Amino acid sequence: MEKKSILIAGGGSTYTAGIVVMMLEYLDKFPVRKIKMYDNDEERQQKVAEACEIIIKERAPEIEFLYTTDPEEAFTDVDFVMAQLRVGKYAMREQDEKIPFKHGVVGQETCGPGGIAYGMRSIGPIIQLADYMEKYSPEAWLLNYSNPAAIVAEATRRLKPDSKIINICDMPICLEEIMARVINKKSRKEMDVQYFGLNHFGWWTSIKDKEGNDLMPEIKAHVAKYGYAENTPAGQHKEESWLEAMRAGKQLLEIEPDFLSNTYLKYYLMADETVAHANKDYTRANEIIDGREKNVFNECARIVANGSAKDTTIASSEHAVFIVDLARALAYNTKERMLLITENKGAIENFSSDAMVEIPCIVGKDGYEPMSVGKIPTFQKGLMEQQVASEKLVVDAWVEGSYQKLWQAITMSKVVPSAQVAKDILDDLIVANQEFWPVLS
Ligand code: NAD
Ligand code: G6P
Ligand code: MN
Repeated sequence: MEKKSILIAGGGSTYTAGIVVMMLEYLDKFPVRKIKMYDNDEERQQKVAEACEIIIKERAPEIEFLYTTDPEEAFTDVDFVMAQLRVGKYAMREQDEKIPFKHGVVGQETCGPGGIAYGMRSIGPIIQLADYMEKYSPEAWLLNYSNPAAIVAEATRRLKPDSKIINICDMPICLEEIMARVINKKSRKEMDVQYFGLNHFGWWTSIKDKEGNDLMPEIKAHVAKYGYAENTPAGQHKEESWLEAMRAGKQLLEIEPDFLSNTYLKYYLMADETVAHANKDYTRANEIIDGREKNVFNECARIVANGSAKDTTIASSEHAVFIVDLARALAYNTKERMLLITENKGAIENFSSDAMVEIPCIVGKDGYEPMSVGKIPTFQKGLMEQQVASEKLVVDAWVEGSYQKLWQAITMSKVVPSAQVAKDILDDLIVANQEFWPVLS
């Protein structure tokens, strides 16, 4: 197996150190010769990078490591770019959450007006990453986690149609890991799943074991009582705000008893309850600033102060496994079946051909082949048509600099009650996002 060179874009991300640890644990399956980090915030990245440098020196000193804010240095000689930008960082996530709440509307990082605002910030920098990659490493793949993945994917489909970009999400696999645990399987990899939808907007239609036995009844029996909540120690998606979303799996199963729903549907189908229960002054962004972000940066500082990471708490996660498995499938033609965000092109028979959908694909050396889903029911189709129209209008608005299209995009979101409320939210978002959005007229 030829050794690969990896660039982590958004090197200062709270997830970077976990991905590095994961890659070092996986070297027998995915050999690496070089790890680089790139960010436009030098100070933030340096804190994570100095800790990663120590981790790499201790565990795999043969791997070359560097971090930089210079695109040429970053993007030259790479095989995979793993992107995880948060354009506007947590300060802007806080605005995405608080501004809609102020108007009585769900304020969420990737759903509704908050997700739309974040999308308008992310499109430009992600397209720029793709341009850098094509300039300095034209053979490389861009594997993108940066949110809102649905809007980013529609933008890359339209603006970089020939680029080697794959947009992905960890929510289905994190939920599958929970499902596996509640039915006493070792991991999600013991299950074969059928899933369809949009990013953060989808359903499992089938989950079977490797012998083809149906696991849905047993999983549904758990979800009918507890949703996706489980009593396991802290970790990703384990803080109280996430547990609330996990518990909503129960109501989502009542709404759609034939399938298992992605937790993100809560924000659309239980919008009133979400607004009623939310602490509008202390949102998820605040929880992370005081929690995950602080923990990661404290731990990185501790590693640097000790000059050693031998006792570090930084661990690999499902999130890291998924993106490295994807790189491995592309590098070594593993033909693994993975959920990716891809242009529909008939995979969902009765849905727009040019919609970006999240469905199983077979991944190999030449890219990926989406699997046929067939026809989907009216309820899901209707919800998805509305959501995908909203996402497409956001990209229209960004490309055309159109206030009208963005107003329509927000109006189209199921979480927004009227065009007037959409306009009020939009006007506040424009003020907050001046530094990041194109000028709208
Ligand atoms: P974070 O704020 O800790 O890290 C993001 C980093 O991106 C920061 O260091 C920031 O300086 C950098 N950045 C911002 N704009 C940039 C630009 N133009 N060029 C280079 N670097 C830039 O955020 P986080 O919580 O670790 O999340 C990172 C991203 O991953 C977010 O977009 C988040 O939504 C996404 N994410 C996606 C999934 C998924 O399922 N797709 C899962 C987890 C996280
Ligand atoms: C899930 C989603 C990601 C999202 C993350 C937010 O993993 O799939 O798209 O970024 O949750 O988690 P956070 O802890 O930042 O709220
Ligand atoms: Mn996601």
